[in-house]
Amino acid sequence: MKLCMIGTGYVGLVSGVCFSDLGNDVICVDKDLHKINDLKKGVIPIYEPGLEELVLKNVKNKRLSFSNNLESSVKKSDIIFICVGTPTKKSGNSADLTQIFSVAKELSKSINKFKIIITKSTVPVTTGDEIEKILKKKNTMNKFSVVSNPEFLREGEAIRDFTYPDRVVIGSNDLKSNKILKNLYSPLIGKGAKYVHTSRRAAELIKYASNAFLATKITFINEIANLCEKTSINVDDIAIGMGLDQRIGSRFLRAGPAYGGSCFPKDTKAIISTADKFQTNLSVIKSVIKSNENRSKLLLKRVYKILNNKIKNKNISFLGVTFKANTDDMRDSSSLTMIPELSKKGALIKYFDPTGYKKDFKKFKNVQYMKSVDSCLAKADLIIIHTEWNDFKSLNFKKLLKNKKTTIYDMRNLYSPNKMIKQNIKYLSVGRSL
Ligand code: UDX
Repeated sequence: MKLCMIGTGYVGLVSGVCFSDLGNDVICVDKDLHKINDLKKGVIPIYEPGLEELVLKNVKNKRLSFSNNLESSVKKSDIIFICVGTPTKKSGNSADLTQIFSVAKELSKSINKFKIIITKSTVPVTTGDEIEKILKKKNTMNKFSVVSNPEFLREGEAIRDFTYPDRVVIGSNDLKSNKILKNLYSPLIGKGAKYVHTSRRAAELIKYASNAFLATKITFINEIANLCEKTSINVDDIAIGMGLDQRIGSRFLRAGPAYGGSCFPKDTKAIISTADKFQTNLSVIKSVIKSNENRSKLLLKRVYKILNNKIKNKNISFLGVTFKANTDDMRDSSSLTMIPELSKKGALIKYFDPTGYKKDFKKFKNVQYMKSVDSCLAKADLIIIHTEWNDFKSLNFKKLLKNKKTTIYDMRNLYSPNKMIKQNIKYLSVGRSL
């Protein structure tokens, strides 16, 4: 099939490349000419394992191309995916749909034959209705169908999540588009993905409800971890005991330093905004947002306690600063709260991250990027394992730690407390006794 992806960010580029790898002809469109020119040269603007190889392979076999021209690309395509950003508005919690509606207006001039217009971007309930109204202004002949097809791609795992989804959700109010899309996704359904056809509004809400639930699950185990620390229980044991219940499931029950990223913070706020618009109180999700926002400060209190409230001139080393492993994304990473706070208190901070230097810390003079784990840990009074990169999972701290008094605060529970005690290393983690 002939597809056009509008927007070449995490969602548009990954989905477009993966669709081309399934044998479709895909044009990825972006208004940013520099980005398009880079993509044409094989320069990938996002850090996503495996993406570069897939781009080169499908450009080579002429199934994948890049364009800055929305109108001509849309006219050549049958199925148009809108994959532009819907960030949280600067004021309030609601999603900023400026880019969505400006694409819809541009699209309405390019409907030269029947098109399926799909929102793959995460959009609030009723956005599809709004897009339909915009398109109808220029196309009274109804030569289009507006469909919601939310993605469930995790950064760092996006190609796998596209190729082996648990489910494909199609929200459309007509059977013609449903038949065409079931055919488009048939290779994934053939590999075991469930196909869910529902109303457009239901599909829009499924995305938000799914992310809000995952954020709730993580916040739940993070709060249980707080109780475990006070009761000498290991939260990992609780997660195992809970997760074996098929109704709960073991995934997304890893206690950590607070959820971050470009989606959970944005989507939990956006669903609250939608509920407020429809006079509904989502009190559980509101408490999840508050609990998660407070969590980084809670873990910082633990840092102050470890250092006996003497932070000034203390050498603190961060292993990892991105919001999770296998991404270079810093959006809403808990390190963006912790490092500035510690810097303000006069700590001497070093950080190492496999994805390199972060401009987010440029303005803090006592925060230094180090090019290796060894140089990052040298002379540390406190080591904070912030992100669960594989690079940090089998370090020989006995050898690495010159200063015997160094404490390790493992915010991702990568190591066993017992093994650390046996090596006489001062070790603290999350949800395990203080
Ligand atoms: C998320 C959703 O998983 C994905 O389906 C959606 O399409 C986009 O948003 P992403 O934000 O890329 O994906 O990352 P994810 O792996 O979900 O992690 C989100 C945050 O939760 C990270 O900060 C991560 O460290 C944290 N997390 C995740 C935990 O603290 N514990 C867990 O067990 C899992």
